[in-house]
Amino acid sequence: MKTPFDELKTCELSAICHTYGRYPLAVASASGARLYDLAGREYVDLLSGIAVTSLGHSHPEISEVICEQAKKLVHVSNLFYQREQVELAGRILATCHCDKVFFCNSGAEANEAAIKLARRYHRMVRNSPAYEVITLEGSFHGRTLATLTATGQQKVKEGFDPLPQGFVTVPWNDLPALEAAISDTTAAVLLEIIQGEGGVRPLPPEYLRGVQKLCRERGVLFMVDEIQTGLCRAGCFWAFQEYSLTPDVFTSAKALANGLPMGAMLATDEVARAFAPGAHATTFGGGALLSRVADKVIEIMQRDNLAERSRELGVYARDRFRAVGAANPGTIRDVRGRGLIIGIDLAFPGKTVWEKLLDKGFVLNLTQDTVLRLLPPLTIAREDIDRFATALDEVLKSL
Ligand SMILES: Cc1ncc(COP(=O)(O)O)c(C=O)c1O
Repeated sequence: MKTPFDELKTCELSAICHTYGRYPLAVASASGARLYDLAGREYVDLLSGIAVTSLGHSHPEISEVICEQAKKLVHVSNLFYQREQVELAGRILATCHCDKVFFCNSGAEANEAAIKLARRYHRMVRNSPAYEVITLEGSFHGRTLATLTATGQQKVKEGFDPLPQGFVTVPWNDLPALEAAISDTTAAVLLEIIQGEGGVRPLPPEYLRGVQKLCRERGVLFMVDEIQTGLCRAGCFWAFQEYSLTPDVFTSAKALANGLPMGAMLATDEVARAFAPGAHATTFGGGALLSRVADKVIEIMQRDNLAERSRELGVYARDRFRAVGAANPGTIRDVRGRGLIIGIDLAFPGKTVWEKLLDKGFVLNLTQDTVLRLLPPLTIAREDIDRFATALDEVLKSL
């Protein structure tokens, strides 16, 4: 007999474009760090919808704000002034050194805005023809045509040529290679402080400082993609703050509205002045409902010291996972990350380990074939980390 899950799977196959390799799980409801499937089985959520529900699912204050604001005003268009958007702008700008923000609907759109701003800045402010954006091998910046071209992974580009011009990819963590790639046509360098999809690979501080210095010396914009690492995920409010960096432009999305679609591009006044009315726009960006929710998300993150919590729990978790590695020689090559973006790099392809962990009730992600990626809610209990470490130990012993 067909289960409700089988029926859902069949309907989906006949109706939805096959762009996703789905996990064998349908989530019916969720609360905190728990997911429940159609049959009511409980799972520990170590993924947060890929770094989105950082406050946990069904956070009571977020649910309340959604209901309240939905009764008052959801959307009017960016043709109008909106108090909710202005209040959110004030709150997000107070977290960093930037002066202006542009709200959009996703990470890819935030990066698109950054790329457009970089080109326009050189054209309109500097009177320079520079247009090229340099990115790093292994990076991930989105799935629109420009952002997949910026992405330093061949697999996302297949079948989509001709790709837009103006993107160059250089090896990861190689300052001389970056220096050699900068020319009169270079508008910006765009990088992730920790490559998430690329296998949880943190860039060394000396490289990051070197890139910022090089950019400043050569008149190139320094742009950081904080879409996965930002909003307390990596143990600071923004990951670049760990190294006292001051990017000219940075982008955010994912956790910004704890599950509602929201992105942001932030820039210094010097760069943001290249945008004028009509230069860039989006229908939904910064709508009243989204803005109120994002405002609440940031308020809670700051009030509950979630950056600090993420930092401390991350240290604890990585120590626990290293101990599991030590107890199972030859299985774990490396445990990496900062705060609660954690990669457990296995010494072999990880599909079986990932499947067995799912069987035991732990939801996480496998990236780059060998890396178990953990992006748990920042509110997750220490005991859940312990439970996962025990499960991982059992799985590795069973191989
Ligand atoms: C670092 C980074 N940049 C950009 C994106 C694209 O964001 P979105 O899927 O919201 O377009 C992602 C998504 O995984 C990401 O991790």
